[in-house]
Amino acid sequence: MKEETYPFVMRALPYEPYELAPCISAESTLYHHDRLYKAYVDQLNAALADYPVLQGLSLKELLERPENLPESLRTSVVRYGGGVYGHELFFDSMQPFSQEQDPKGSLLEAIIQEFGSLRDFRERMKEVAMNQFASGYAWLVLGQDGTLRITTTANQDVPDLKRVIPILNVDVWEHSYYLQYQDRRGDYLNAWHRVINWRKVARRYEEGLEEVRKNRLLRGEAGPEGAGEKFLFLGEPQEEFARTEFVFVP
Ligand SMILES: [Fe+2]
Repeated sequence: MKEETYPFVMRALPYEPYELAPCISAESTLYHHDRLYKAYVDQLNAALADYPVLQGLSLKELLERPENLPESLRTSVVRYGGGVYGHELFFDSMQPFSQEQDPKGSLLEAIIQEFGSLRDFRERMKEVAMNQFASGYAWLVLGQDGTLRITTTANQDVPDLKRVIPILNVDVWEHSYYLQYQDRRGDYLNAWHRVINWRKVARRYEEGLEEVRKNRLLRGEAGPEGAGEKFLFLGEPQEEFARTEFVFVP
């Protein structure tokens, strides 16, 4: 499916604003989505209006290599484009409170392998999000080595999209929680864990693994031919994920 390009259109919430309550109040969700997220979409479009040559690029393409953009546009794309990307993943990663669930299948196995247990993952995600000074996001990402990592970014920055595939994030700007939780970011994070849409996160994880495999093949890093091709050699360790290992390919 072709990715969206300019003019970017605000995405509707995939649930009613009140359905995240009591974890996240309807007032908070409406304010956050309808006013703040909308402002990022509008400002990104306004910034791109004078650059017709770049209007055919997807949001991911714009954010992947901001260093290649005209200097006069770069800050706006990082700030507003990042704000669109971060908010869309955030809102799309939640579901009504009544549908509370846990991850399962291969995603749960990967979480256990990387973090020890689901509980450990939740604690680690909370800890990292708590430690993000001032505004920003905490992210669960899939690296090009096929493993999960938790990372944070400041402001509206996104992780390096050339190197990782974000599959879940949580907005820790005060505007996300102040109306309901005031300065109690930890309470907000505990509540957020209860409205994560793990089915969508799992789908992103599977699609991300597929992308990782394709990237490996394109770089000629596939393993040996034949029935034994259960593993792809991951080649050179990367700076961010400094591990050389094998990853299971079903
Ligand atoms: Fe936000």
